[in-house]
Amino acid sequence: MKGDVLSLRDLDENQIVSLLELSIFLKNQLKEEGANTKYLDGKILGMIFQKPSTRTRVSFETAMLQMGGHAINLSFNDLQLSRGESIEDTAKTLSLYVNALMARVYDHDDIEKLSRYATVPVINGLSDLFHPCQILADLLTIFEYKKRLRGIKLAFIGDGNNICNDLLLGCSKLGIDISVSTPTGFEPLDWITDIARKQSREKRSTILITSDPKEAIIDADVVITDTHISIGKESEIQHRETLFFPKYQVNNDLVRFAKKDYIFMHCLPAKRGKEVLSDIIDGPHSAVWTEAENRLHVQKALLLKQII
Ligand code: CP
Ligand code: NVA
Repeated sequence: MKGDVLSLRDLDENQIVSLLELSIFLKNQLKEEGANTKYLDGKILGMIFQKPSTRTRVSFETAMLQMGGHAINLSFNDLQLSRGESIEDTAKTLSLYVNALMARVYDHDDIEKLSRYATVPVINGLSDLFHPCQILADLLTIFEYKKRLRGIKLAFIGDGNNICNDLLLGCSKLGIDISVSTPTGFEPLDWITDIARKQSREKRSTILITSDPKEAIIDADVVITDTHISIGKESEIQHRETLFFPKYQVNNDLVRFAKKDYIFMHCLPAKRGKEVLSDIIDGPHSAVWTEAENRLHVQKALLLKQII
């Protein structure tokens, strides 16, 4: 069993909780003892990027280096993939050299294929459907701020995309109530919502999908948004702006419906003035920098569980 993580479907509640516990241990250890551990001495992570990245690339590379390992950045254009070599052959070849692969792809089918043919573990560093590393960091951030996960109410406002999909899977698995508000036609996919609804029934938590952002945000402990124009959707800017803006913008008019001590999160990069105003992202409720920092700690935990 390779233990690939392509979405939060691949981890059960206990696995997520133990990853979060390990993340907290590693975060404290980094602060108290510094960066030089040898947990991954001699281990190599291959990182394939079809799309740009700041946080994912640097946090994975830093994670490997701080644990005594090494990361190789494999941009799509530098690989023979860009000249038509198949994902199958690439997966088999890279597995001969590295201990694990992390990939950021456009089409989720590509990472499924990579996972099928690689003989080493594969981690999804974002696809059009999922972003599990981000949502693990989000869960850690919520736990740090709110001291619990079960019973928390989370509102996601915006595009029913990769972030929203893994939030639905992760929250419903952990007993977090989740409300999602998107414009009509931009809801999360039915099959993902169905899995989330089934999980939430087991945990006696709630799921609401609505086109009314005020309905979603009422009494929220956590408010999350994401860009309205994900990587690859640039040709839809005009159409999307008409539908999303300003109704689905996180601003002071909207957050007054959340709990007084709500926290605001965003995976970044943010388009300030579009999905969120600077007042909010730089304001007293914002947890975005802890959220970004936590990418490093949860990915270290994930690498330790996946590679060793
Ligand atoms: N949040 C996130 O995945 O950021 P990058 O696109 O910069 O990696
Ligand atoms: N939904 C965004 C997330 C970026 C981290 C995108 O896919 O571009």
